[in-house]
Amino acid sequence: MAAFSIKVNGKTHQVDVDSDTPVLWVLRDHLKLVGTKFGCGIASCGACTIHADGNAIRSCSLPVSAVKDMELTTIEGLSKDGDHPVQEAWLEHDVPQCGYCQAGQIMNAAAFLEKNSNPSDEEISQAMNGNICRCGTYIRINQAIKTAASKMS
Ligand code: FES
Ligand code: FES
Repeated sequence: MAAFSIKVNGKTHQVDVDSDTPVLWVLRDHLKLVGTKFGCGIASCGACTIHADGNAIRSCSLPVSAVKDMELTTIEGLSKDGDHPVQEAWLEHDVPQCGYCQAGQIMNAAAFLEKNSNPSDEEISQAMNGNICRCGTYIRINQAIKTAASKMS
């Protein structure tokens, strides 16, 4: 065990964990930020997506020792009142079904749109390709991303 200092959603936290502990479990078990979900644990499904310095990353595959001074953002910190354009578009299109994958989808979409606020259908497909939804909400996800893009551009 070792003490690590990590910055999440604008706050600095001290956690006493093994150095190879994935950030996903630090968030969920130590900081009680349970919006970030476990799906596969091997960076293959996107359920655990968060932002590190604004980039979408898979928190199941990032050891806490690698975080250092990165600024992490989880779904809980994406906006103050759930009013990020992507979250609003998700509501407008009633995207979720079971909901399990959706925090990861939203975090991935939000990071993508920060870099490309006027994406083509193909660019959206490429960007969202690694985020799996077992309920098959992909059509609504794509529609919501277009709506969010129109608000963000
Ligand atoms: S749980 Fe991290 S990518 Fe699946
Ligand atoms: S909404 Fe159920 S897994 Fe995506």
